[in-house]
Amino acid sequence: MVENFIGIFPEPMGVAVNFQINGKDYLIPMATEEPSVIAAASYAAKMVRDGGGFHTSSTEPVMIGQIQVAKLRDPEYAQARILSSRLEILKKANEQDPILNSFGGGAKDMNAKIIDTPMGKMLIVELFVDCRDAMGANAVNTMAEAVAPLIEELSGGQVYLRIISNLATKRLAKAWCTVPKEAVGGEAVVDGIAYASEFATADPFRAATHNKGALNGIIAVILATGNDHRAIEAGAHAYAALKGRYTAFSTWTKNNNGDLEGKIELPMAVGLIGGAVKTHPIAKIAMKILNVKTANEFAEVLAAVGLAQNLGALRALSNEGIQRGHMSLHARNIAVTAGAKGEQIELVAQQMIKERKIRVDRAKEILEELTKNQQSPAD
Ligand code: MEV
Repeated sequence: MVENFIGIFPEPMGVAVNFQINGKDYLIPMATEEPSVIAAASYAAKMVRDGGGFHTSSTEPVMIGQIQVAKLRDPEYAQARILSSRLEILKKANEQDPILNSFGGGAKDMNAKIIDTPMGKMLIVELFVDCRDAMGANAVNTMAEAVAPLIEELSGGQVYLRIISNLATKRLAKAWCTVPKEAVGGEAVVDGIAYASEFATADPFRAATHNKGALNGIIAVILATGNDHRAIEAGAHAYAALKGRYTAFSTWTKNNNGDLEGKIELPMAVGLIGGAVKTHPIAKIAMKILNVKTANEFAEVLAAVGLAQNLGALRALSNEGIQRGHMSLHARNIAVTAGAKGEQIELVAQQMIKERKIRVDRAKEILEELTKNQQSPAD
């Protein structure tokens, strides 16, 4: 799969539980190096289950392919010419992928916009391609490259880039839920989460971390299933900044009953076919565990996972803070960093958790005491 291969890089993989989405139960495979992500997702999904689970929706799986045209003598005339040749351009694009067409996908529409840059006006032609159950980068890039000569001919300009956009605004997934106040820990906790949400909506510094919390869950599933996590992250962050200021892509409010209502919306370019999804043996197992039938269902599950992960983080943050739970789960890593091996790891970790001192210096001291005791059993 890659060049200059020297080995594989294993990542811990687990399964988040308690997820109920549109009435269906799911097990969520997650690959992540971060302790507490899988526990937090499972815990949050349980709270949401008490309120009837997650509800989701998604748009058609349409990706945008961009063709950049520069050096135009008359950009407005070129734009008009391209737009009036829409059917010819779409036909050329669709000739590239008869299989996608046979499944109801393909280039469905297009646009041409003018952008003003320091190097002059450029025409950006955009193909809107329904990718069905594929992530779609290969299909879209092939189409963009194939129509480029026709676009040059029609526009009289020079085509440079021909590539998919990861800002997949036409391929959105949404999830929402209502969490009873009793499930979340009472009305004061609901208030805390609502305040946290407003903080993220208003302040980009907080929004980045808020969104990162949701992506902790989404990306863990994307990794486990062999999808392109850079595409998802790029799309999510660009979408969060689409209105000109970076903001949160999920929000939480208190409803009239005092219960918590949450929603998330973000681009979700994921596939069930193509890329590593069908070739990586672990990704294949992960897809089997996940048991989704379409890329749309997959995208909606991912939105629900993001919302759950966000809820788990906000509940902890607005309450006791994340460090106690997080560091307890991190204690084994600290023990290993301090040099603990085999059964020493658990002993050192448990002692640090008991003392609430989860630090490498303390792990080293405990390890020294343990080693001393093991060397002189009479002590
Ligand atoms: C840590 O990986 C993620 C959090 O920072 C998310 C958040 O602050 O909402 C806990």
